[in-house]
Amino acid sequence: MKFTESFPIETFDALVIGAGGAGMRASLQLTEKGHKIAMISKVFPTRSHTVAAQGGVNAALGNVTPDKWEWHMYDTIKGSDFLGDQDAIEFMCQEASEIVRELEHFGVPFSRLDNGKIYQRAFGGQSLNYGEEQAYRTCAAADRTGHAILQSLYQQNLRLGTTFYDEYYAVDLLKNQDGDINGVLVMNIHDGKYKILQSPHILLATGGAGQVFRNNTNASINTGDGLGMVLRAGYPLQDMEFWQFHPTGVSGKGMLISEAVRGEGGKLRNSLGEAFMEKYAPRVKDLASRDVVARAIAIEVNEGRGCGPDKDYVLLDISHLPDEVITKRLPGIREISQTFLGIDPVEEPIHVYPTCHYMMGGIPTNIAGQVISPDQNGKQHPVKGLYAIGECACVSVHGANRLGGNSLLDIVVFGRKTALTIDEALTSSPAQHDATLNLTPVVKRLNRWLKQDDSKNDSISRIKKDLQLIMERGCGVFRDEPTMQTALEALEGIQARLEKVCISDFGNVFNLDRLAAYELENLVAIGYSTVVSALARTESRGAHSRVDYTERDDENWLKHTLYFSDNHRLTFKPVNLSPKHHDSVKPVPRVY
Ligand code: FUM
Repeated sequence: MKFTESFPIETFDALVIGAGGAGMRASLQLTEKGHKIAMISKVFPTRSHTVAAQGGVNAALGNVTPDKWEWHMYDTIKGSDFLGDQDAIEFMCQEASEIVRELEHFGVPFSRLDNGKIYQRAFGGQSLNYGEEQAYRTCAAADRTGHAILQSLYQQNLRLGTTFYDEYYAVDLLKNQDGDINGVLVMNIHDGKYKILQSPHILLATGGAGQVFRNNTNASINTGDGLGMVLRAGYPLQDMEFWQFHPTGVSGKGMLISEAVRGEGGKLRNSLGEAFMEKYAPRVKDLASRDVVARAIAIEVNEGRGCGPDKDYVLLDISHLPDEVITKRLPGIREISQTFLGIDPVEEPIHVYPTCHYMMGGIPTNIAGQVISPDQNGKQHPVKGLYAIGECACVSVHGANRLGGNSLLDIVVFGRKTALTIDEALTSSPAQHDATLNLTPVVKRLNRWLKQDDSKNDSISRIKKDLQLIMERGCGVFRDEPTMQTALEALEGIQARLEKVCISDFGNVFNLDRLAAYELENLVAIGYSTVVSALARTESRGAHSRVDYTERDDENWLKHTLYFSDNHRLTFKPVNLSPKHHDSVKPVPRVY
């Protein structure tokens, strides 16, 4: 059965693709304003990956010690290794306290201090008074903060009557004859049927793509679907060389062991029993920023001080913490350790190793959430009708390394802000639905794997596993030209195998095969964007640690990369160093 250019159409004022915290916060705002929107989610909404966020959300509420948004801003810029855009970081940190109070009013069951205020814990890279002392800024609901936020936002959306398309997969953006985005083709995962959802305002909130690495903390749904759509539509991805490896993943498996464990007093130790972070970050030790701690663990293991029969992990010790801290603040961590390692951390330390956690790069946007793309002269312009928020976006509040607790903040701040941008546009000009959508590229893509001869068929899951291993070896915590060049060549092989994938007759094959093929195509595109950008950046900055270029090079590299998939092309744009209400934070050597 071949696809033709004919699909049922439904029209909306705006579409939100992705039901994690970012999409959910945006859809809430748009529904509240009375717009007809569709929220499209690949999974049942409360299974979106925000549910897995553990440690908390940052805001300078000052519930434990006096705090200021300016200190939060400074820490975020320093944490970003000065690659974060300072105007966007300033905006996020200024909005933080109000947006967390708003979450509280939405019903998020935050943990409480004895005086009834929201509980705030210590997290890495956070300080008081521009680096002087440890801050307690991360507002937590035990170690299940993302779960609490996602449930509350979903309930608020249900209360207001947001229209959900649960278990629908967004295949590709659709353009009208003028080349403007005006719809999206979606597949109903239950019956494999397609339809067009049409709108002049499309907000991508499709989350990260951690599935491109073998060991990761990400849900299996995190396959970078929004990023793939944007590349195929001809727009760039920004800063894709920067992937956060969370220092403490369950060794050999990758699940997240929250930074909250170290925030509550947990200690990393090597096989000699040494609390080794004292060597790498003498002042803040285990609460240095994530890139620093992840490198320290990798060095300890590489130099033979790892633990276990293969000396391939280090220990996270919480045996000295009072029972009450573990029961009240870290119940989920105890459960994860027992389930995946068979270890009760009250008795024995947890086995941990860095694991891919977060994509600092993504779809470039401005503070208003509009997707930005350069013209031929390099001047940046908003792409009409296209918006992005959350992990799939790069408004560049995380730069080269994100601080723990800033991603839950990013999703709600820019979720709300971008919905307000769309609301403003709809208020000044009601939605127009252009009947003349160009369906040729997407129909070609749908038909691409419909070959009758499956003699050269390859397995989608095998290709995905090979891709993940290539990325882990080529672009892990440490990388250099040879490892990345090898990865780039290997990606050519992966691409060739993907071309040969054959789903003999879409009509007769359970449709998850199709879904897996679409997802894999996105992951391969992300692999390319990562390796090409990382090869080009001849310096070490934040999470991009090159063995062959060990220093940060502000003279040449205080700039963002922009990757286009045609000919794996790169262009660049400068970092914004001009906040509105604060002096610019000048790049200095970053020590903790
Ligand atoms: O360690 C954690 O709980 C993760 C938090 C985050 O990535 O922000």
